[in-house]
Amino acid sequence: MDIFLYLFFFLHPAAIQVQITPAQGEISVGESKFFLCEVTGEVKDIDWYTPSGEKILHSMQDLSVSRSDEVTSTLTIYHANVDSAGIYKCVARDGEKEAQATVQVKIFQKITFQSAPSPQEFTEGDTADIVCNVVSSPPPTIIWKHKGSKIQASKDVRYKIMANGHLQIRGIKKTDEGMYTCEARVMARGEIDFKTMKVVVNVLPTIRARQFEVNATADIGSSALLACDADGFPDPIVTWTHNNVVLEEGDKYSLNEDGSELIIKDVMKVDEGDYTCIAKNKAGEKSQEVSLNVFVQPKITYLNNKTAIEFDEEVILTCEASGDPTPTISWSSESKIFTEGETFNKPVAVFHARVSSLTLKNVQFTYAGQYLCIASNSIGQDSQSVYLEVRYSPKIQGVVASYTWEKNPANLSCEVDAHPEASVVWFKDGSHLPSANTTNVKIYNMPTVSYLEITPESQIDFGNYNCTATNDLGSESKEFILIQADVPSAPDIQQVEPFSSTAMVEFKEPDSTGGVPVLKYKVEWRFPGEEWARKEYSKDDGELCSNIFYLGFTFSVSAGSSRLKGCLSCKHIHKTEHMREPSAPKLEANVADEGNSLRVTWIKQDDGGLPIIHYLVKYKAKHVPEWKPEIRVPSLSEHTTLNGLAWNTEYEVHVVAENQQGRSEPGIVSIKTAAQPTAIPGSAHGGSGLGTGAIVGILIVVFFLLLVGVDVTCYFLNKCGLLMCIAVNVCGKAGPGAKSKDIEEGKAAFTKDESKEPIVEVRTEEEHSPNQEVKTPSSEPNETTPLTEISRRPRL
Ligand SMILES: *[C@@H]1O[C@H](CO)[C@@H](O)[C@H](O)[C@H]1NC(C)=O
Ligand SMILES: *[C@@H]1O[C@H](CO)[C@@H](O)[C@H](O)[C@H]1NC(C)=O
Ligand SMILES: *[C@@H]1O[C@H](CO)[C@@H](O)[C@H](O)[C@H]1NC(C)=O
Ligand SMILES: *[C@@H]1O[C@H](CO)[C@@H](O)[C@H](O)[C@H]1NC(C)=O
Ligand SMILES: *[C@@H]1O[C@H](CO)[C@@H](O)[C@H](O)[C@H]1NC(C)=O
Repeated sequence: MDIFLYLFFFLHPAAIQVQITPAQGEISVGESKFFLCEVTGEVKDIDWYTPSGEKILHSMQDLSVSRSDEVTSTLTIYHANVDSAGIYKCVARDGEKEAQATVQVKIFQKITFQSAPSPQEFTEGDTADIVCNVVSSPPPTIIWKHKGSKIQASKDVRYKIMANGHLQIRGIKKTDEGMYTCEARVMARGEIDFKTMKVVVNVLPTIRARQFEVNATADIGSSALLACDADGFPDPIVTWTHNNVVLEEGDKYSLNEDGSELIIKDVMKVDEGDYTCIAKNKAGEKSQEVSLNVFVQPKITYLNNKTAIEFDEEVILTCEASGDPTPTISWSSESKIFTEGETFNKPVAVFHARVSSLTLKNVQFTYAGQYLCIASNSIGQDSQSVYLEVRYSPKIQGVVASYTWEKNPANLSCEVDAHPEASVVWFKDGSHLPSANTTNVKIYNMPTVSYLEITPESQIDFGNYNCTATNDLGSESKEFILIQADVPSAPDIQQVEPFSSTAMVEFKEPDSTGGVPVLKYKVEWRFPGEEWARKEYSKDDGELCSNIFYLGFTFSVSAGSSRLKGCLSCKHIHKTEHMREPSAPKLEANVADEGNSLRVTWIKQDDGGLPIIHYLVKYKAKHVPEWKPEIRVPSLSEHTTLNGLAWNTEYEVHVVAENQQGRSEPGIVSIKTAAQPTAIPGSAHGGSGLGTGAIVGILIVVFFLLLVGVDVTCYFLNKCGLLMCIAVNVCGKAGPGAKSKDIEEGKAAFTKDESKEPIVEVRTEEEHSPNQEVKTPSSEPNETTPLTEISRRPRL
């Protein structure tokens, strides 16, 4: 400045003066400014010169000079730049006169944000470099502000303001997100400027599969859902890949809005495998794998019917099945479940995983039938049945012998089991049936049986018939015999027990039934001189053993079968008895231990057709006429004891049996009591009183006994004597024994006092008691009349 002033005064003492206004200039880069050069005095030229000394012509680039009037010239600097700075000179000339002035032009840079973008994005965790490029001259000082306060790097180590003015945040967090202000100051000018920018912190996605393993079933039209949940900032987009191919929404796949759920439609086995879900955003991407397991229900893929021939070594049934997991195969038949490797009636079951074979060894015709193959795995099962056909030669069964008689048709049945079905032919004596001259033979062929119906016409129709069954595999024949049935043999009458109005007949079944079962028995009987009465008894099960009859009089039994009548058994003629009083019981007497007691026993004889009511016992010492009081003994007893008798005395005992018809003759016995023992002298019953009279009495008795003995002997041997006389005159009866002899010979007389229709009953063996329906006057029951006997009713 001082120099310029000096120059001005030295070069232009008074002639002309030049002045530049403003005297100096500062121009911000890019701005424009002008300077006015004023001259005092008359001048011809006013010129401006650049700092480099170059005269500025009318208009150079960014520089312009214009002469506004005689004394002023204007220099305009457009869009100043750093190069524009320097000393500009204005020179005024008029001839020899010349004057000049200079002006120093300074160019400066004001605060300019060259790069301070907003928003600026970073990834969480990274070291963020927040850009704020600002220039000025002189260079600015920069401070950063966030949430209204200045960031002080000294206080938070994560922050650092770099030499270039950038703000560095180490390990930027989501919480660091927000508005940041970059402020620049130039002290020299007091200039200040700022820029606010948005800092965005992006977060790398995270992704998590809801299930790492998904199970699905193939081929049933089902869908599988795979799902991954993603997180991050900005919200990530989820995509899916399978075998490195990105899956697109379509027929096979569908995705939800954010892609997090993938639905695989109509799952097939080929869909099995790993699927990848990928979450992607600005910060990056993350992926996760999900496995899809596809299970396949078992399905039997091969199974065929088989045919085997009986006695083949083996037959193998094969079953193939697919499925995932590999199915296990099992076999069963209608009656049996096979287990692997077992030996069952020789069949062996051998199974393999996907193919299983059931081996049946030593084929029998019974193996034919259905077999079931069952394939099963963890998700299901499939089963199918297969039919094993076994071909076998005919097997003949049936009852060999059949019975019939002339004109009665009978069937020979030839039961044939064969596969394939056998054809059956019948032969008789080597010739095929039916032959031309047989009209009495019919053949009924059914699927499993052939009936040969024969109506015998003569003897030659009986005999052997040959049934021959034939199929592809062979033939079998069997003889059937047609036997002429005979009439049953006569039933053998075992026992006949005649009673007053009935008889019990016991007979054996006929020895020979003639080949056909006995159907019924016929019983015939008659009263002398009358017609035969007859009755038939069917032989049904209930009466099989009841071949016992009660009937009246003469009778016979015959057995009949079907239409054949058996011959009558020999006629048995029996007569029933009159009902009468019982026969006299047979007596026996013993001296009892006491010596003066007697024990009397008797044996029941014929009861006269009626039950014995009781026995009447009476006794007396032989030498006295009076009888002791009668003792009544129940009919079931067959003995009695007589006590307190006189010592050494002969006693006579009578026992009479009584039924409703009356009393029997007495059974008689005589016995002497023992002598009084001498060891007991003075006994009340002693024989001390036995005087001469007693001895005489004894002698009389002995004599009498001798007499009776002789008489009895006479009576039995010669039918004479006193007793005979008494018996004939008093009782009018034959001697004992005749009656029972009569019974044995069945010659008892017929009585007419009963109804003519005899009562005929069938009874079981154990009831032998005489018929109780005989009309009898009812007896007053007393202690000696057993009710049980009467109340027992016969069973029909
Ligand atoms: C899928 O199947 C496997 C094998 O059967 C089984 O272990 C697993 O638990 C199943 N997973 C699901 C999610 O059902
Ligand atoms: C197997 O045999 C059965 C019974 O004979 C029959 O119904 C079925 O059709 C047969 N199956 C095949 C595949 O031949
Ligand atoms: C023999 O068998 C055939 C066929 O079942 C039948 O029609 C006929 O009546 C039988 N004949 C006799 C006597 O049973
Ligand atoms: C059938 O007739 C022939 C000749 O006429 C005879 O030889 C044969 O015995 C007869 N057969 C029968 C079963 O009658
Ligand atoms: C049955 O007849 C056939 C043919 O005549 C013969 O081969 C077979 O031996 C006969 N069978 C019997 C058991 O007699």
